[in-house]
Amino acid sequence: MRIGVPKEIKNHEYRVGLIPSSVQELVHHGHQVLVETGAGLGAGINDADYVAAGASIAQGADQVFAEADMIVKVKEPLAAERKKLRKGQILFTYLHLAPDAVQTQDLIDSGAICIAYETVTAANGSLPLLTPMSEVAGRLAPQVGAHSLEKAQGGRGVLLGGVPGVPAAEVVILGGGVSGSHAATIAVGMGAKVTVVDRSADALKRLSAQFGTAISTVFSTRAAIEELVRRADLLIGTVLIPGAAAPKLVTRDMLKTMKPGSVIVDVAIDQGGCVETSHATTHADPTYVIDDVVHYCVANMPGAVARTSTFALNNVTLPFALALADKGWKQALAQDAHLRNGLNVCEGKVTCEPVAQAHSLEYVKAESLLGL
Ligand SMILES: NC(=O)c1ccc[n+]([C@@H]2O[C@H](COP(=O)([O-])OP(=O)(O)OC[C@H]3O[C@@H](n4cnc5c(N)ncnc54)[C@H](O)[C@@H]3O)[C@@H](O)[C@H]2O)c1
Repeated sequence: MRIGVPKEIKNHEYRVGLIPSSVQELVHHGHQVLVETGAGLGAGINDADYVAAGASIAQGADQVFAEADMIVKVKEPLAAERKKLRKGQILFTYLHLAPDAVQTQDLIDSGAICIAYETVTAANGSLPLLTPMSEVAGRLAPQVGAHSLEKAQGGRGVLLGGVPGVPAAEVVILGGGVSGSHAATIAVGMGAKVTVVDRSADALKRLSAQFGTAISTVFSTRAAIEELVRRADLLIGTVLIPGAAAPKLVTRDMLKTMKPGSVIVDVAIDQGGCVETSHATTHADPTYVIDDVVHYCVANMPGAVARTSTFALNNVTLPFALALADKGWKQALAQDAHLRNGLNVCEGKVTCEPVAQAHSLEYVKAESLLGL
């Protein structure tokens, strides 16, 4: 199969769909890989690295889209890229179609086979191609929070780990899932006093087993959150109710009780945020202040560490990319129900129920398209 890797064109997107070791694996399986010139530069990968791995370099996106049987990307295709897709071509990338009617219609019109990273599942019910980005965002949260606590950034001038004779900062993490537990790992490592709040007894048990007495775990109630919000120097929001908007656990009234210069990092902002005063920000202008509280609400935090994120993403996407290339999409999807769950749009039909519902479009089961 001919696999194409275009350069990402979304604003401030520096990740790339395939890294050289993934290219090498695909080439070893007998496939050809065409990478757009400069596609890896944002992640610190040169054209020469791709050539050494066995790829060819294309001078522009037009050639990549025209020649490839499968396009492997990171972000959803923008309008200019969607125009280049063709019937029967496989698109393997993040899509996030439910809130995007225009993209959904363009993908339907393209006739391409569109497989979304974010809806591929695993046997334990998780979303394995989303997990690494939650890990990255979780680990970044204490780092950006610590920076925002610095006086020059509008923070209260508190060092997360304290120093001998001066207490460490109090870090409160709302939600102890993937992002929350990774945030706790880094906050503990930086010497902070860490409390994690979750409403799942299983999550609290898991955290307690992982961290022992290095953190406190608290069951999520309004009263508990009120008390912890008042005490926090750094509040990190990582709650998720799958498929739903994030619950607003921190209200405007609670914000008024926070210490001046304290910091909120609302990782859950991509689902609307779990703080009433959160609104999405960008890496170019990541913070704003309300009621003397610094808010950091960047919706694509992993983009800040494009290289780590690219490698983490490839670790989980490569086995699926190989299956699609080796077997062809029909057989690969027929044999793997979890990969099949990633199929969102196929040859003009919407095969992901929530996407069909969101846009009042006809839903066709992937199984019926595949004759299963
Ligand atoms: N901003 C970014 O760049 C970025 C990057 C990656 C992920 N995210 C987002 O981070 C969020 C968390 O993702 P995740 O993979 O860690 O999810 P997860 O499902 O692993 O964890 C969410 C946790 O929230 C808990 N929770 C739900 N409701 C709660 C409540 N009322 N009180 C306390 N805890 C509650 C759940 O029990 C669960 O343990 C998601 O919205 C995800 O999209 C954002």
